Amino acid sequence: MVKNNIVLIGFMAIGKGRTARELHRQTGRFSVDTDDLIESLVKMKIKKIFKRHGEAYFRELEALTADWLQDHVDYSIVSTGGGFFKVPNLSEIGTVVYLNSDFDYLLKRVLDQPDSARKIAKRPLLADKNAARRLYLERLPLYRQVCDYEIDVTGKSTRQVAEKVIEKTGIICK
Ligand code: S3P
Repeated sequence: MVKNNIVLIGFMAIGKGRTARELHRQTGRFSVDTDDLIESLVKMKIKKIFKRHGEAYFRELEALTADWLQDHVDYSIVSTGGGFFKVPNLSEIGTVVYLNSDFDYLLKRVLDQPDSARKIAKRPLLADKNAARRLYLERLPLYRQVCDYEIDVTGKSTRQVAEKVIEKTGIICK
């Protein structure tokens, strides 16, 4: 049976974690993040997992996390790593909302933040801007294929994005 979670997908640094925390504030639902679950499972930072064990191992951990979410988590907000959307049971976990903007806006927003160096350093796949742009373009139609709703975050505050999620999915505020 499909769970009653809201699953936020989208490219790196689009604001899935921020939006999940704001949705927690507005709805009272707990929020969990797939990267955080993976880091606590293997007691290693994402960057180190990639470096030590490679991306394929990280994707296996994502699949494991997806199974756990499907079996054990309900009525929550799930923010995900940018590649998590490829797990086969995504739609079983809940209503899938894709947060999107064009790549240049996304990059500018990251670079404009005071802690941009840290945000980039912890994301191995964002290190090379041209490769990241290619990945963005490659994934765009795939995100669209798997989502129930798409929200354009361009020019919106985190609060406005969260309000859009609430409007589209009909989840109840506290
Ligand atoms: C990834 C995105 C990252 C993290 C890992 C891989 C991806 O999460 O899961 O570095 O494949 O796009 P964020 O989307 O939170 O940056």
